[in-house]
Amino acid sequence: MMQALEGVIGYSRMRTILVCNYKGGVGKTTVALHLAWLLEQARNPKKDPLPIGAVDADPQGSLAKWYARARSEGYTLPEVQLVSSWELPSRLGKMAASFSTLIVDTAPTFSPAVVTLAEKADVILVPVTPGALELDAVQSMRAMPGQERMRFILNRADRGRACREVRRYLETLGPVSELRQYSVYRTASLEGAVVTKLEPKSEAAVDLRRLAREVLS
Ligand SMILES: Nc1ncnc2c1ncn2[C@@H]1O[C@H](COP(=O)(O)OP(=O)(O)O)[C@@H](O)[C@H]1O
Ligand SMILES: [Mg+2]
Repeated sequence: MMQALEGVIGYSRMRTILVCNYKGGVGKTTVALHLAWLLEQARNPKKDPLPIGAVDADPQGSLAKWYARARSEGYTLPEVQLVSSWELPSRLGKMAASFSTLIVDTAPTFSPAVVTLAEKADVILVPVTPGALELDAVQSMRAMPGQERMRFILNRADRGRACREVRRYLETLGPVSELRQYSVYRTASLEGAVVTKLEPKSEAAVDLRRLAREVLS
């Protein structure tokens, strides 16, 4: 992978994970925060001396607020950067020296800067919740560059037929990871906590750790 290149050239290349969907409330911020936490936990400082960074490109600042709360609760997370989308390209360039991986959470609106970032991002994560309107939003994501680097996250999944059908459809577009629906997500967001620390043995935590492995694979 890209680590091989680093060894040869001797500089670290920041990996970028973009989390996007033009639809709101599908789990972008939830996914961004949990991935940042899990990847930071899994990081081997000898191999990857630079931490996992996060950028909040949604002016609502939900990720930044969650991070601030989590940090005050004792979570060891590097400070999240709140960046307006037009600033993204220049700010990401500057951050490349400080982070091994950068997770970018985005607003549920079309933004040319996010489209540009999709051209370069190593992984594009598209959380989707099962429903007709959400599928319309997936259709509009089809116009994004980087389709071959896209992974869909079927979020708030249940055992219903609608959910199975959405999954089948998503599988025709790219790899799919699943996060089932659990109330612990809400508790975590209310408390500024992460699910895997709040309830490490829960099925929600199992889903999240699987997602982190799938994203890294
Ligand atoms: N798998 C899940 N199960 C239950 N609730 C979830 C799940 N994923 C997200 N949520 C909840 O859904 C709401 C929207 O999630 P959020 O990450 O803020 O979406 P977005 O960033 O796309 O707007 C939040 O209240 C969050 O706690
Ligand atoms: Mg959000």
